[in-house]
Amino acid sequence: MVFSGEVHPFRNPVQSLHFDVLQKIKSMGFSAVSIYIHWGLLEPERGEISFEGFRDLQPFFDAAKKAGLYVIARPGPYINAETAGGGLPGWGTYTPGLWRTANASYVEAYQPYIKAVGEVIANNQITHGGPVILVQAENEYSGFWPPYTEDFEYEAQLLKDFRNAGIVVPITTNDAWPGGHFTSVDIYGYDSYPNGFDCAHPYVWSPDAVPEYFWGSHEQLNPEDPNAVYEFQGGGFDGWGGAGYEGCSVLTGPEFERVFYKNQYAMSTTIFNIYMTFGGTNWGGISHPGVYTSYDYGAAITESRVLREKYYETKLQANFLAVSPAYLTSKPQNIGSTQGSFTGNSALKTTQTLDVVGNKTGFYIVRQTDASSFAVQSYNLTLPTSVGALQIPVLGGSLTLSGKDSKIHVVDYAAGSTTLLYSTSEILTWATIDGQDIILLYGNQGELHETAFILPQTPGSSPFARVVSGTATIKQQVLPSGALAIQYTATDQTVVQIGPKLKVFILDRSTAYQYWVLHPPTVGSFASFGTENPIIVKGGYLLRTASVSDGNLAITGDLNDTATFEIIAPAASSRTVSFNSEKLNTKKTSYGTLTASRNAHLPDVDLPKLNSLTWRAADSLPEILPNYSDEKWTVADLETTFNEWNWTTPLILFSSPYGYHTGNILWRAHFTATGMETGFSANISGGLAFAYSMWLDDSFIGAWTGDAPSDTHNDTHNFPSPLVSGSSHIITILMDHMGIEQSWAGASDWFRMPRGVLGYSFVNSPDTNVTAWKLTGNLGGESYVDHVRGPLNEGGLYAERQGWHLPGFDDSKWALGKPTEGISNPGVAFYRTTFDLNIPHGVDYPLAFVFTNSTTNPHFRAKLYVNGYQFGRYINHIGPQKVFPVPQGILRYNGQNTLAVSLWATDAGGAKINSLNLELRQKVETSFGPIDNAPAPTWRQRPNAF
Ligand code: GAL
Repeated sequence: MVFSGEVHPFRNPVQSLHFDVLQKIKSMGFSAVSIYIHWGLLEPERGEISFEGFRDLQPFFDAAKKAGLYVIARPGPYINAETAGGGLPGWGTYTPGLWRTANASYVEAYQPYIKAVGEVIANNQITHGGPVILVQAENEYSGFWPPYTEDFEYEAQLLKDFRNAGIVVPITTNDAWPGGHFTSVDIYGYDSYPNGFDCAHPYVWSPDAVPEYFWGSHEQLNPEDPNAVYEFQGGGFDGWGGAGYEGCSVLTGPEFERVFYKNQYAMSTTIFNIYMTFGGTNWGGISHPGVYTSYDYGAAITESRVLREKYYETKLQANFLAVSPAYLTSKPQNIGSTQGSFTGNSALKTTQTLDVVGNKTGFYIVRQTDASSFAVQSYNLTLPTSVGALQIPVLGGSLTLSGKDSKIHVVDYAAGSTTLLYSTSEILTWATIDGQDIILLYGNQGELHETAFILPQTPGSSPFARVVSGTATIKQQVLPSGALAIQYTATDQTVVQIGPKLKVFILDRSTAYQYWVLHPPTVGSFASFGTENPIIVKGGYLLRTASVSDGNLAITGDLNDTATFEIIAPAASSRTVSFNSEKLNTKKTSYGTLTASRNAHLPDVDLPKLNSLTWRAADSLPEILPNYSDEKWTVADLETTFNEWNWTTPLILFSSPYGYHTGNILWRAHFTATGMETGFSANISGGLAFAYSMWLDDSFIGAWTGDAPSDTHNDTHNFPSPLVSGSSHIITILMDHMGIEQSWAGASDWFRMPRGVLGYSFVNSPDTNVTAWKLTGNLGGESYVDHVRGPLNEGGLYAERQGWHLPGFDDSKWALGKPTEGISNPGVAFYRTTFDLNIPHGVDYPLAFVFTNSTTNPHFRAKLYVNGYQFGRYINHIGPQKVFPVPQGILRYNGQNTLAVSLWATDAGGAKINSLNLELRQKVETSFGPIDNAPAPTWRQRPNAF
């Protein structure tokens, strides 16, 4: 079973943190991780492919292998992913050809990238001792811009290019739905986001949201392959002005995971990747206009790397499948007629999924017929078993399914030398330890369940279940077949001994959440991939590893509170036990497990009060001052460019053909007045939620403050007073480039959507002569300056072009001034301060910067730069994001930090930030670390800056 979590290495620039996330995914019981690689970040300038800094893929591959996770590598060339250009490079926007087709111009464009990245991936394939087992070509090559259709020649070319780069593992693709596109890959698969993205209404599910047709399409499209879902919804993205990620996490919370994931198991999905498992951050300019800085995604692991409840729910499921080999050879039997089957209750659907190779084990997955229902259903199961049909519960009573829930009932399920003839409660895991089968079962608290065991023959004795710990009362009966049935309600934890060779833990769900299944490393370079000798431990916020030496069991992990451990391990491997290298004082329970308690070490830390620091301020809009020279700016002189979009300007006034693809863009129109003009009209395109401000010489003439749904804005701004005929003036426009659009459909030109001025005119004066249009974005454009922080980190603000956001810049001559004081004019101010952190090792205390403005006025935009990394774009009146996590490694936890804030006031009266605070997101003791800081090169004079 490839049970995989999606993570985007480029959304976390701290290489040493990957291992933390990967270990968390491993501890969930997953076997793999799936990654996107972003062409535009790697090749921002055509022909200059760079793996510098955070773009180096090797640390991620190494960390995955060390964590014991296989890798599905997805290098595109197109990736979508709510990222700038959907992964396409900025220079693609003006490079001719139909992209994502076999068009020669496009093929020539992508080939060097696929060669370079393909070789890095190839070196990390399992055949070369690395973790990569699958490589995906393209992404959702499923929709096509009419009149174009699926381009088979492109597909064949891409496969050839992957193979030429040395890829030998199976090549996959993710159709957007099981639509039969790009089936020439080795293992075809599809994506599914069945609960949608309406994070504002997270409790609303559509009655027919749970798809059943994926099995039929799999049978039709690639029955010989694993049923593969390369992206299954693990959260949702959220856009500017959206509901916020907590809503997305509810929409895709534990109930969703139970109902929708289990439905995928009902369809024997054996390659299953959860998009996202850890979303990360759209730091720098890596987002497309449809999302804001956070890419938390409401995923199992938050942006601050904190575990949500849904993490613990998925852990139960992944651990179950990891010990259920019969599942791998199962097939659903009754798709299309699941309603009412096996229960006689038409309000329920039950899929019968049988192991067709072992011809024994059955999985019966029950859910509501109406997925939106909160009703409580009671039911009995009539199931075929190896001893004939049984009506379950056999010992009387009935089962319940409450609202949005789903259960996997098993039949003839082997767990060591024991067989579960059936179980209505679900299996967390099982293991044979010191000759005994240990089976962990769970159900919702207070629910009635029944399990029957077929035990190895013990002559002369009839099987009997004895409660050895806990409060559940047990009803039991030896069935005519000789199997022992026990009936119970799950509360907390009850341990039942059945004969000398079987111990059953009956858990309610929240107790089950506390269990971890750890595997001591085996030998060799794949030691972390071992699935032998499980050690089962209850307790702790997160357990990462277990290893055994000289009878000592060493457990590592994270605690957020006092942990009460219960350890189920071979006696010889647990004569002593340590947690995070401290010896535990263990006690043996009457039934043979070990218990111990351990306080969490959570030292207090002092955080700086940002508002009380010394800040210095400078104007970051000298461009409107009379003495400013734009001599070094790019002259907009193109009369045409390769682009299907309409424009009405005599010259091309999009930023992309001039090499500017991110951040802020500034335009200057030099003109000679006729004396008739009373204002300036312009149609400006910046992407969703963008803004612009406009000046005539040094007079502010107006702004578009932006709103969530507008990506362009057409407006007229009046001049304050008539101009003298023949006099020279300059219109300056400061605008946002919200990111290059994605191009979801093959052959589409969406990513070429211009950023800049689509049309303009002088009011009352058609003859006003613009003598020059000039523009600038980030310093150097595609020949960007900062190769460590990458091509999208800096935009075109004066402060950014000068490098004022970088640590080490000397601001001592600047005036004092704080973002909380702000500015009273429209314009851009830039603020800098430094502060020290002193957070000890051995803890994980994620931090976030929090804005507190509570009214939509004034209208302003702020960007946060932490040690030179842009880690937040805040739009006061659009939101929704006010909390900006910044990971350790960007923040120096033991040393000095440079914080810079740009404040762009779009109102005539200026703006200020009410308060900006640094806050803890969580406190845990951790075995993880130490964390190497991401490199943060300091300021150096930029000779060509202007
Ligand atoms: C999929 C796509 C992903 C991502 C996702 C939504 O269609 O393949 O890249 O965009 O949707 O988050």
